[in-house]
Amino acid sequence: MAEKIIIFDTTLRDGEQAAGTRLGVREKLELATQLAKLGVDVIEAGFPISSPQDFEAVQLIAQEISGPIICGLSRAVDADIDAAGNALKKAKRSRIHTGLGISDIHIASKFNDEKYGRKLEEKKEKVLDMGIKAVKRARQYTNDVEFYCEDSGRADKQYLYRVVEAVIEAGATTVNIPDTTGYAIPEQFGQLIADIIKNVPNSKKAIISVHCHDDLGMSVANTLAGVRNGARQIECTINGVGERAGNASLEESVMAIKTRKDFFGVDTKINTRELYRTSKMVAEMLGMFIPPNKAVVGANAFAHSSGIHVDGFLKNPLTYEIMQPQDVGSPQSAVVLTARTGRHGLKHRLNGLGYKVSDAELDQIYQRFLDVADKKTEVFDEDIAALVNDEMRTIEHVFELQYLHVACGTGTLPTASVKMKVKNEIKLAAAYGDGPVDAAYEAIRIATGLSPKLDNYSIRAVTGGKEALGEATVKIIDENGVRVTGRGVSTDIIEASAKAYVDAMNRMTTEKGKV
Ligand code: KIV
Ligand code: ZN
Repeated sequence: MAEKIIIFDTTLRDGEQAAGTRLGVREKLELATQLAKLGVDVIEAGFPISSPQDFEAVQLIAQEISGPIICGLSRAVDADIDAAGNALKKAKRSRIHTGLGISDIHIASKFNDEKYGRKLEEKKEKVLDMGIKAVKRARQYTNDVEFYCEDSGRADKQYLYRVVEAVIEAGATTVNIPDTTGYAIPEQFGQLIADIIKNVPNSKKAIISVHCHDDLGMSVANTLAGVRNGARQIECTINGVGERAGNASLEESVMAIKTRKDFFGVDTKINTRELYRTSKMVAEMLGMFIPPNKAVVGANAFAHSSGIHVDGFLKNPLTYEIMQPQDVGSPQSAVVLTARTGRHGLKHRLNGLGYKVSDAELDQIYQRFLDVADKKTEVFDEDIAALVNDEMRTIEHVFELQYLHVACGTGTLPTASVKMKVKNEIKLAAAYGDGPVDAAYEAIRIATGLSPKLDNYSIRAVTGGKEALGEATVKIIDENGVRVTGRGVSTDIIEASAKAYVDAMNRMTTEKGKV
């Protein structure tokens, strides 16, 4: 059995530190319930000293949620530790996460008061002492104490080793090595973890945890480098939300470990089928929407569009998918029809919609499909149905609309000019009318020499959005009372109307067997 990596979720604490976000107590409880369902090992529920609301949320979660360890954050300050300890009282399993800045820049800047010493070296000794005292105080509340060495990514290594050793000696059961500022590079961060494990004599007595930020977009890579080098707990947030550019994303880190188990040789207890649901919940609650191209949970994470990819995917999904949508609880893989989709992808969708088409028909429909796809970002099933119906009826194409120009506007007379093929002859005509459609119809009547009576006309949008296809339907009656219906589809409603009229004329001609 592969060794399990402990998943420490800090969406409710570091995640909620994302600028412009705030969760209510009830929302936090709801999210904690979902995190427990997801199977995280530790929920960092908040920072109890920071506000009465945070205290209440940690307390409520500690009381209500069983399964994961419930953790509260504190600085290495008595009042903070006491607040965390009190908020966690009712937890079945509790953890206090305490610590302080240990890089030179943090120590020199945050502890600049002379009470911490005059020189940097003196301040460092004081900080070390504060860390030890904080762990000892936290241990009075729980046996499970995690110590964070803030800004480890930029810390003086020899000093970091001393801090890690001292806090383990004082009773810390987990030591967190955060790359607080997202400064680390995977190789270097991995080496840091390996060096801590090698150079700190008692390192094996505690779990080494990694907590990476995404300022340079490397939080997940750094987290995984930590795992490769011996870290056995990873701290992450759903969707990677968090302070500044955020934290390592839980779904990406977990799926990397699962998908590349051959490489990492470890596992997690996460129920990955809950990832998508949890991600959606976090996005909605925080009002931070997920980019479509976001790994694992983005809307396009399992969408295939280009001809080569769709072709391969339809032959065998594994050609272009390293994970399956159901593994993360995401809706089925999708073939998104766009201008880059090939014939194979279109045929697959047509078959799915119940249309059986010959190769020749497919060629025809494909050309029409490309015209529509050029004008729209995505072609929907309704667009396809409209195109097929438009294309596949066997009518005699005596009239063909080759060109249509319509001019209209407030205070002007709507005019239309058309170029039409009529029984293999090219005809040009121009006309005016009561509106652009009326003008176009008059020009068509002149060009074709036919003047059927317009019995009914309607237009509707086939799909949504400003680039929706418009479908026009017209009914015409000839002098003998023969009625036919014509349809036309286009992203331009005047063109759809003209096509419908010409279609109706072709049908009438086919019907009567003569022009
Ligand atoms: O990024 C960080 O260093 C933190 C600590 C408080 C763990 O969030
Ligand atoms: Zn952080």
